[in-house]
Amino acid sequence: MATEPKTLNDMFIDTLKDVYYAEKQILRALPKMAKAANSAELKAAFEKHRGETEGHVERLAQVFEIAGKAARGKTCDAILGIVEEGKAVMEDYGDSPALDAGLLASAQAVEHYEIARYGTLKAWAQQLGLTEAVSLLDQTLAEEVKTDELFSKLGVGSINKSAQPKAA
Ligand SMILES: [Fe+2]
Ligand SMILES: [Fe+2]
Repeated sequence: MATEPKTLNDMFIDTLKDVYYAEKQILRALPKMAKAANSAELKAAFEKHRGETEGHVERLAQVFEIAGKAARGKTCDAILGIVEEGKAVMEDYGDSPALDAGLLASAQAVEHYEIARYGTLKAWAQQLGLTEAVSLLDQTLAEEVKTDELFSKLGVGSINKSAQPKAA
């Protein structure tokens, strides 16, 4: 039996599954990063984004529904790798001044992955005529971009400075 040629719709659903899995991994990683962070500002930023991430999972479930598919995740090796690097930072820089700078860098790698994925999903939803999905994906994309900007501000504002204390 000949297999059906795969289309953009198949790719859209596969990528939704990838991001759904990734967001759930991020939900588990953010509290650990908040706990590890020294800076109160950074802790608060991680905790705030954990709350937003719950909304991202919820929106993805809605997008699955719009696409007529059950919400299901599919192992995303990219996010596993990024989260693994974050764990290594916590282990290798546990009590060091540079810990927060490393956590921030890991968190921004996560955001950039999400921004890439949501940008693609939004473009594909547009192409597929899934107007409601476009709006949901765009809301999440905007939150990821805003979070990335906040992280950049924290880095330049204080975190990077305290990572390199001046010699007495
Ligand atoms: Fe997210
Ligand atoms: Fe995010």
